[in-house]
Amino acid sequence: GAPETRTPTGAETGAPATANGQQGAYLTTAQGARLRDTDHSLKAGPRGPILLQDHHFREKITHFDHERIPERVVHARGAGAHGVFTAYGTAERVTRAGFLKKGKETPVFVRFSTVLGSRGSADTVRDTRGFATKFYTDEGTFDLVGNNMPVFFIQDAIKFPDIIHAAKPHPDREIPQAQSAHDTFWDFVSLHTEAQHHTIWNMSDRGIPRSYRTMEGFGVHTFRMLNEAGETALVKFHWKPKLGVHSLTWEEAQLLNGIDPDFHRRDLYDAIEAGAYPEWELGIQVFPDTPEETFAGIDLLDPTKIVPEELAPVQAIGKLVLNRTPTNFFAEVEQVAFHLGHLPPGIDVTNDPLFQGRLFSYLDTQLTRLAGPNFHQIPINRPHAPVNDMLRDGFHQDAVHAGVAPYRPNSLDGGNPFPAGDAEHAFVDVPVTVSEAPKVRANPASFDDHYSQARLFWLSMSPVEKEHIIRAYTFELAKCYRQEIRERQLRALADIDPVLCAEVATGLGLPAPQPSGPLADVAPSPALSQVGREWPAD
Ligand code: HEM
Repeated sequence: GAPETRTPTGAETGAPATANGQQGAYLTTAQGARLRDTDHSLKAGPRGPILLQDHHFREKITHFDHERIPERVVHARGAGAHGVFTAYGTAERVTRAGFLKKGKETPVFVRFSTVLGSRGSADTVRDTRGFATKFYTDEGTFDLVGNNMPVFFIQDAIKFPDIIHAAKPHPDREIPQAQSAHDTFWDFVSLHTEAQHHTIWNMSDRGIPRSYRTMEGFGVHTFRMLNEAGETALVKFHWKPKLGVHSLTWEEAQLLNGIDPDFHRRDLYDAIEAGAYPEWELGIQVFPDTPEETFAGIDLLDPTKIVPEELAPVQAIGKLVLNRTPTNFFAEVEQVAFHLGHLPPGIDVTNDPLFQGRLFSYLDTQLTRLAGPNFHQIPINRPHAPVNDMLRDGFHQDAVHAGVAPYRPNSLDGGNPFPAGDAEHAFVDVPVTVSEAPKVRANPASFDDHYSQARLFWLSMSPVEKEHIIRAYTFELAKCYRQEIRERQLRALADIDPVLCAEVATGLGLPAPQPSGPLADVAPSPALSQVGREWPAD
């Protein structure tokens, strides 16, 4: 016996079962009183002042005054769409997650975004793109909150406010840096050289996607999966676009920012409305869950590192099709709230220090952005699995919870701890051994290599991609006012590759520094190039 029932429609009070659809033969107030006039305020005579007693005027203006909510502190600019995910069943051997069983179809909502721009900023700026997916699974919601680049700027979430402060508009002039990064961004990434790998991705064509439909997506972190037999594996998630990866040229991106700042949003919605449904395959790289949590010498907990696909192939596990545009942008795209802790049974976290910090940050920010603790009741955030929590009250409580004993066990509402027989659907925290080492504010030594994978990326590019990267660094660094920051970033480029460094130095009219030591001996990964790849067929 469940002691409480969620009734978000308010049906128990006798209210209509559907939310106010703003349709009907006549206009009413929010209280349902029929209106005679909504175009004239109530005045003391035709020329007189407006009367305070005009409730309709005050209700209409007050509600309007409060229409805006805070934009997301990052990823404020975005667009979203509904779709369906169909599992191939190929992940069944590594995870017990029901939505990954063969043939299973799960409704999804995806939000794409830029990171740095404000809500009204242009789409085609040079930036990382968010690729966040909400799977409304039968076993609870799964949020895969990824980006279009497989690595991140920092290795520890405690630095997130710092990198974002360095990259957001300057505090004095509020001039955005997404298009023309200035001193603070380059100051940060040249001082925190762990950021160099993500930065070379940003300077590559991946920083200016042609369309959301032509972006790869990455879960970035390593996750832990648990199968029916109780075995675990470490995995990385990849989205592969059916159309292949394509980018704009810098000149196209610049022009589009002026001509059509909504270019990506329009492209997504036009494609869906024309029936050209965007598609991706979801894939995983699977690694043995060893105590070291490494693969081929790569630390799987370091979010600035990839595992090249040549070493661990991406195995397709399902297909995503986006087939429906939002009905109301605010209700769906603006109010959707993703969280990395929204995991179904069979998928678990790892100790990646960026992942761990993100597990705190999203709910915390959403408590402010969505005004209180009940935003999981907003339609776009409602799980499709049955909900029987013991959460009560709070701002914007939509449910009329029945029962008097929201605690378990209890002897008043007939509440047993858990319904018998349901255990196999329950979430299991994988009992990973926690380090017995002393508490410390430090990274493992394996996080210290900041250059070899930036070099791997550079060496994997085709000639035209290399040319674009050189031009992007030169353009962006030319925007720095301070010579010492340009010189410091050139020293970082020297440790990535002498040719890259020399070309950018020439463009800036500066001497090319020498590498600080021997360069990493890395084999190129052709899969990193956009050119000459094969993409998922039908
Ligand atoms: C928002 C991805 C790192 C804090 C987002 C969004 C995405 C994303 C896609 C937009 C979600 C949406 O569409 O609503 C990532 C990735 C990361 C990363 C892939 C690294 C691998 C971090 C870190 C923090 C952080 C380290 C903080 C410690 C936030 C916050 C938001 C956000 C506060 C706004 C959420 C909201 O207002 O609903 N992130 N992020 N992110 N991210 Fe991250």
